[in-house]
Amino acid sequence: MCGIVGAVAQRDITPILLQGLKRLEYRGYDSCGVAVHSDGELRRARSTQRVAELESQVQREHLSGFTGIAHTRWATHGAPATHNAHPHFSGQGKGVARIALVHNGIIENYEELRTELQAVGYVFESQTDTEVIAHLIDHLYGGDLFEAVQQATRRLNGAYAIAVFCRDEPHRVVGARHGSPLVVGRGKNENFLASDALALAGTTDQIIYLEDGDIVDLQLARVWIVDVDGHSVEREVHTVHIHTGAAELGPYRHYMQKEIFEQPRAVGDTLQAIESITPELFGDGAYKVFKNIDNLLILACGTSYYAGLTARYWIESIAKIPVNVEIASEYRYRDSVPNPRTLVVTISQSGETADTLAALKHARGLGMENTLTICNVATSAMVRECKLSYITRAGVEIGVASTKAFTTQLTALFLLTLALAQANGRLSDEEEAEQLKALRHLPVAIGAVLALEPQIMAWADRFATKENALFLGRGMHYPIALEGALKLKEISYIHAEAYPAGELKHGPLALVTEHMPVVTIAPRDGLLEKLKSNMQEVHARGGELYVFADADTKIGSSDGIHVIRMPEHYGKLSPILHTIPLQLLAYHTACARGTDVDKPRNLAKSVTVE
Ligand code: G6P
Repeated sequence: MCGIVGAVAQRDITPILLQGLKRLEYRGYDSCGVAVHSDGELRRARSTQRVAELESQVQREHLSGFTGIAHTRWATHGAPATHNAHPHFSGQGKGVARIALVHNGIIENYEELRTELQAVGYVFESQTDTEVIAHLIDHLYGGDLFEAVQQATRRLNGAYAIAVFCRDEPHRVVGARHGSPLVVGRGKNENFLASDALALAGTTDQIIYLEDGDIVDLQLARVWIVDVDGHSVEREVHTVHIHTGAAELGPYRHYMQKEIFEQPRAVGDTLQAIESITPELFGDGAYKVFKNIDNLLILACGTSYYAGLTARYWIESIAKIPVNVEIASEYRYRDSVPNPRTLVVTISQSGETADTLAALKHARGLGMENTLTICNVATSAMVRECKLSYITRAGVEIGVASTKAFTTQLTALFLLTLALAQANGRLSDEEEAEQLKALRHLPVAIGAVLALEPQIMAWADRFATKENALFLGRGMHYPIALEGALKLKEISYIHAEAYPAGELKHGPLALVTEHMPVVTIAPRDGLLEKLKSNMQEVHARGGELYVFADADTKIGSSDGIHVIRMPEHYGKLSPILHTIPLQLLAYHTACARGTDVDKPRNLAKSVTVE
């Protein structure tokens, strides 16, 4: 992942680079750095703290320049230490640095290149795969940076987006991408590079999305792009209006808390003002596609994968179409049996997740051309790559742990379920009206669940002292248990696992003692009596049950059984409501443990490496 910003201008570009980095911190925050061309030499500042600290360092050291690059890192090769932070320099061996480079991605043949470059005298300062690119470009440099980058990229295996500049060519930054995102921002007598247009908001809204294999030459008044075959190409310039106003915290302690409380609005916006269900909500031609498919293949990672798992229950039960849900990173590398009459659905908050994009391409490569994405970013690669799409309206999600993105994905997936059912003659008018009514009521229903926060906070204080937790759910609430466990481990660092409650006796029951809290999702559905038996199995072994029960389940609190009542049972949409208390439990437990809730250790919001 990592975030890249680059600039060529006739003004000091350090504020633009630093502002860009702040907006890209969601891509990783293990370290950050900036390098500029300043009075004929390359200067840099690097920090293992957050961008705000780097900013103070830049000011203290009076770093400024008209040309520069910057980076925020999510460590792959080499610890998050200053010497591994980007930008990397090359040429110091010869006295002064000549090449400065930042990189996003992974170079798979870096060991071989490192040995080769060491043999010709390059001394490595870091453990990164990135440093080999800087030295390789320096080694190949013969007076033209663009040519050196072109030659160097031919030697690289793996995925990368890079931005590089050279001491000897002060008004030039060269960028290249292969498998990792990179955009160009056009200005008037100034040009920019970034791994996400968001980084350039407020600087320019004229954005070019580079394609795989592109190399771009950025000068003051020129943007020249050469494609993978070495041909000069024109790429469309998009006017992209990016909303950066999500930054205000308001009365909340963290963005995650704010985003949890934004869910009534986010879900409402995702539903827009839908009057009736029609496949065309997913794009032109959707009816024909939905009508002519045999099955669905849902591909996603992380929280988005759990949204997919939930959707399988809905689609198979309501639209009666078989669904497979696969973790994208597994699907892309396994032998599978393709069916051209499959609808491939990707789910992604960011629309940039490397594994999901690669899985999508893999599916297409196997002849499955019907593609649809549920995505939160309308300008993302995922939306551009899919035939059909539905844009969730969660708004920018800053907290690394996904909350409103998940519930809006579920909302969109429920709409997809209804649209598939309708296209296949399985949705009567009455049913459509009833489901639409339930959907429209969702924001209010979520609001009522959010009001449970004080009760959940009391539980969180007890959870904060634990090191393990189990989450149980059944049926369509099993994926919600998975999501609840993921939230808790991501931000509180408590080891948490989720199981379908019926599976407990096949192994995990061995873990249950009086020290093991067992969170149970107990909606009033057809599996409730079975679930109650599973709860007894825990109770009999001394386990402490924490139950989120629908109002009319008749599960009462007693010794070792703590119950919080959900305001109402919500039928098929119940998984959306049962997600909310689990988010709040994870959030308040993390707060009680004093972790960095919005930026949990080792994680990143957008994962653009495989
Ligand atoms: C990262 C994030 C998760 C997210 C996953 C998939 O791991 O931390 O919150 O669920 O990526 O991201 P996507 O943008 O594809 O939904």
